[in-house]
Formats: sequence, structure tokens, C-alpha cells
Amino acid sequence: MQESKQKIKQKVTDNSAAIGVFDSGVGGLSITKCIAAQLPHENIIYIADSLHAPYGEKSVDFIIQRVNTITKLLIAKGVKAIVIACNTATVNAIEQLRAQVNIPIIGVEPAIKPAAKQSISKKIAILATQATSGNQRFKDLIDLHHNGAQVLIQPCPGLVEFIEQGKQHSPACNALLRQYIEPLVNQGIDTLVLGCTHYPFVQHQISVIAGPQVSIIETAAPVTLQLRKKLAEMDLTASSSQQGQTQFFSSLVTKQQEQIFSQLWQEPLLLCALEHK
Ligand code: DGL
Repeated sequence: MQESKQKIKQKVTDNSAAIGVFDSGVGGLSITKCIAAQLPHENIIYIADSLHAPYGEKSVDFIIQRVNTITKLLIAKGVKAIVIACNTATVNAIEQLRAQVNIPIIGVEPAIKPAAKQSISKKIAILATQATSGNQRFKDLIDLHHNGAQVLIQPCPGLVEFIEQGKQHSPACNALLRQYIEPLVNQGIDTLVLGCTHYPFVQHQISVIAGPQVSIIETAAPVTLQLRKKLAEMDLTASSSQQGQTQFFSSLVTKQQEQIFSQLWQEPLLLCALEHK
């Protein structure tokens, strides 16, 4: 009881410390790529909780427990800030995490505001996991930002599993995408929000199914901008002019996993085992 009220860690002041980024699995690589490209002097430690993916079909208590465990591991590695590169973990666990941790925590939430703003048909849709779709913080976000647009929520069970297994180009994955997207297009949406960080890895397939009249919005760029602002505000921006390094850890390390990571990262990488799972 007492322990949960204590801060996990006091503020980090070393600007050469790494940025911690995590997700249930490979999805957060879509955010990490953008961070590495936009903030090239920063070191990054990426943790994939692949042993416990997908989070989208787990209970809130389970998600909170995993988020807290991974945060402790990142803090033990000395990170100066944490990016929760996962919509599901953000909407379900960010508030309780911020209450315990003194370093900046940046979350990822579906980009409803820009989507509603740019929609001409005033009909937009959000693809998300089940645990995001049913979450109150997510519903409040829609109420706050719909700007008069009708917002269709499409949970996508099964989709994360295809991407985790490196089967995002399979006919079965394409059939699942069709099942989720075609009814939205038939209802007249002109904007589609990717509300899960795994989904940018099937963005091409999504845009082929949705057609050229539907624009697709994801969140890597605004999250990176928010991270940049937070680091600057707290005087934590890396001052080195050297290229930053990205290290990859997972709760499930196999040769096949390493290949899937390398394929999505678009260069060979070394996947290291987490000390505690
Ligand atoms: N990539 C995550 C998200 O943004 C989680 C997917 C999952 O594990 O279900 O929601």
C-alpha cells in the first residue's frame, strides 16, 4: 500500500540518458522510427512486451501491471523520459503511472482532433484495439474533439496478432482488414484514424482497401513533437552531436522475433532479452 504511493524515481537530470519507449510488441517501432529520425542525437531503449501481446484483449488490471513492470525496468536502465508507444496502454494506464513517476511520460492517443477538423463528410472512423475501444478516457477524447463529426469506432481483434507474427502481408490479414474497413467506407467516411501503433505497418493495405477518397492519420509525428517539447522544457535534450543508438529488448526473444523486428525496422538489429519478464 505504502509502496504504491511512493514515487518510483526522482527526476533524471542527465541529458545523455536514453529515452525509454515501450509497447506490447512491435507496434511501437512505428513511433520509434520517427523519434530516431527526428531526434537523431538521442539514445533510445525500446522494450517490446511480446510475451504478453496483445494488450488489446487483456484486462485493465493486467495492462496496468505490465505498464508498471516495464516502467520499473526502464527506470532501472536510467532513462530520462518514457514514451508509451501504445494507445491501449496509454488510455488504460497513463494516469496512474504519471502519479508514481517523476520523469516525463508521453503517451499516444488516437488523433481524433485533426481527423475531425479535416473531415469534409463529417464522418470519420477510428481503428483501435478492443481495450482502447471500450475505454472511458478514449470515449471522453472523442466527446472533446469530434467537432460535430460522426465518429465510428471499429475494434480490430486479431489484427495485432498478424503483425506480431510477421504475417501482415498474408491473404488472411488482408481479408480481416477488408472485413473491418469496407463497412466504414460504405458509410461514407473520408478520414480514418489509426488508433493502434501496430496499424501503420498495414497502412498500405488499409489505403488500398479504403481508396483514395479516404485519408489516413497516424500519430508518430505529433508524439515525437510532444517528446521534443517536453525534453526542451526540462532541459533534457541530448547535447551530444554524435548519432544516437537504439537498443531493443523484448520479453520474448527468438530468432524469428529478431527477424520480424529487423524487417519492420528495415535494418538488421539485435534483440536482447529482458532481465525480468
Ligand atoms: N500497439 C498497441 C496500441 O497502440 C497495442 C496493441 C495490442 O497489444 O493489442 O494499442
